[in-house]
Amino acid sequence: MRLSPPLAAVCLGLVVACGGSDSVTASGIKSCAEDPTQALCKVMPPATDSGLRYYVSRTSRSMGTALDVTFGTSTAYDALVAREFNLVTAGNAQKWQTIHPSRSVYNFVRGDQMLEFAQANGMKMRGHTLAWQNQNPIWLMSGQWTADTLQKVLQDHIATVVAHYKGTIYAWDVVNEALNADGTLAATIWSNTLGKGYIETAFRAARAADPATLLFYNDYSLEFPGVKQDAAFALVQDIKTRGVPIDGVGFQAHFQINADGSGVPSRASLVSTFQRFAGLGVKIHLTELDVRIRAPGATSAEIAAQAQGYTDIVAACYAVPACEAITVWGVTDTESWIPNAFPGYGNALLFDGSLTRKATYGAVRAGIGG
Ligand code: XIL
Repeated sequence: MRLSPPLAAVCLGLVVACGGSDSVTASGIKSCAEDPTQALCKVMPPATDSGLRYYVSRTSRSMGTALDVTFGTSTAYDALVAREFNLVTAGNAQKWQTIHPSRSVYNFVRGDQMLEFAQANGMKMRGHTLAWQNQNPIWLMSGQWTADTLQKVLQDHIATVVAHYKGTIYAWDVVNEALNADGTLAATIWSNTLGKGYIETAFRAARAADPATLLFYNDYSLEFPGVKQDAAFALVQDIKTRGVPIDGVGFQAHFQINADGSGVPSRASLVSTFQRFAGLGVKIHLTELDVRIRAPGATSAEIAAQAQGYTDIVAACYAVPACEAITVWGVTDTESWIPNAFPGYGNALLFDGSLTRKATYGAVRAGIGG
């Protein structure tokens, strides 16, 4: 069975090998076409000039956010997402752990809800992610794999997931966090058994499953000139030279403001970094943007540096034509991953827990210009 939008209802449930010829619905969840009254199927009011997406839409670029557990719990939250953004990423719902919980079972439920919301509201969706070290299911991590069987597991996963979303996902983060901070190949379930070749395998499998979606290598700390940026550049250059299908580089763009106000490279430095990668003929997406500050206890100077950082990042992207999309990693400070991952830091996003716009919001708006 080949899926085309709108997604067939049978693939909204917990399914066995959905996208194959013998899909089975287990959850009975209905698609929006079958039951448009479901909360998640509501089409939000069109974007007006009060939302970021209005300004972004005039530039032909995309402004996105990551959706996670808060999505679908409040009309106010969902309406804000549809008003402010024209792109979404599943914060967790399309990772292996969620989407492929046991070897023969795929669970597309949550990812499909987000896709349907995006489609109903005229938004694009980025897929995240197909090959990573973290948030993998136990069956994968504890399996005894030969190179041949693991390669087949990777290819089958990518073929199934990308085929399920064929024609609907704007861009996929195919390989996530392939490099360590020092630029060496990260030791992962994939590289440990398949070597560096897993990267090529993943991109080729994704292209075979959907010729039209954009394929990205996504990583952290690429925004800073240095060994990791150089290694990423060499990696992309190498695989492009060898004809491996890759369309873009995702800069995760997780920044931290230090006590002296440093932490975000200057606008000029960011522009030259983005131009450097654009010179390889790839698109650039800022995929997981957040700028964390001390919480509690940030000084007014740190708060000002955070706002300046947001403006510089957005303006730098907009100064480089290849930089086509910016995604902020979550909507509100209360749902952000930062306080858990970086204790003592927070307040990294554009809205507070009451859905009120912060100074960072105005800073992004200033970076967009117009
Ligand atoms: C984070 C999610 O936001 C958290 O909810 C989860 O607990 C851990 O992962 N790099 C990535 C993202 O590529 O997938 C991570 O997202 C943040 C770091």
